[in-house]
Amino acid sequence: MKAAAKVCANIALIKYWGKVSTALNIPAVGSISITLGNLWSETEVEFDESLPSDTLILDGQSRLDQLGRVTECLDLLRVRAGVEASARVVSHNNFPTGAGLASSASGLAALTIAAARALALELSPRSLSIIARQGSGSAARSIFGGFVEMHAGSTPDGSDSFAESLLAADTWPLEVVIAVTERGEKSVSSRAGMEQSALSSPYYSDWVATSTVDLDRGRRAVLGRDFEQLTNIAEHSCLKMHAVAMAAQPPLVYWNATTVACMHVIWDLRHSGVPVFFTIDAGPQLKAVCAPGFSQEVEKALRDVPGVLETLITGLGPGIIG
Ligand code: DP6
Repeated sequence: MKAAAKVCANIALIKYWGKVSTALNIPAVGSISITLGNLWSETEVEFDESLPSDTLILDGQSRLDQLGRVTECLDLLRVRAGVEASARVVSHNNFPTGAGLASSASGLAALTIAAARALALELSPRSLSIIARQGSGSAARSIFGGFVEMHAGSTPDGSDSFAESLLAADTWPLEVVIAVTERGEKSVSSRAGMEQSALSSPYYSDWVATSTVDLDRGRRAVLGRDFEQLTNIAEHSCLKMHAVAMAAQPPLVYWNATTVACMHVIWDLRHSGVPVFFTIDAGPQLKAVCAPGFSQEVEKALRDVPGVLETLITGLGPGIIG
């Protein structure tokens, strides 16, 4: 009743922001992501009859604030296995936790896989994706490698809300440079930010209404390996998501001055002919996505931006790596 899993993080190029069901964590919009090879979470789960309740140690610290979603995810697997024992969960990320670097994606995906292994459940990648989604929407995508599409689905029970592979990592080996501009955990989580946006942003309904067109454009760009089209649609999706969040009341501004400075550096690089675009999640880190062979040049430019604390370089990854 003990097993581990190591799973890569992912970042969305066409963003997920908003839910139709909080209880089942069903997203209001589909999304398209890339799985990152060098950023991962490693999680060990042990079911133990003698434990009074689930426990979570994340990066060496007990995290009661994150335990709720962990337990919800474990419950889905316990029901399937007919097991009632509580679990001891120990997880660590090889990158800053909770700072908008997709730690919930890899963390909850690794939890789902480790727990399924510990309970000896034979589940399809699709079932694992549906279960991981209920822990964290973005985690549904980390079950797969390379380019991944998450379907919002339309059934009330969420059974058609899962991710699947769009294009293998080695077919279009894009490179990613992450500019870390802050190390602390973000003040407003994605979960709370989405809720605040849906409740109070006047642009939220347009965000949802235009998502199908964005997904179509994103999917076509990925399948056609069209970097220019992907650049246009990915930056649009990112900026539109942030525009929705900024217009919420109270406002949600995830960027700091360095994030904005990095955006300008990416635009300058692009104007000088470097194939690169950016994306930013619910935190101040900027993720630059570049065509194969350009990450060194992009990293050099981002490293020199005042306020950039650290840069990370990664290629695309396979999803489950251990
Ligand atoms: C901005 O998956 O962290 O990174 O489903 O509430 O756990 P929950 O949210 P989460 O949200 C990710 C939001 C995003 C965009 C994205 O990854 O698509």
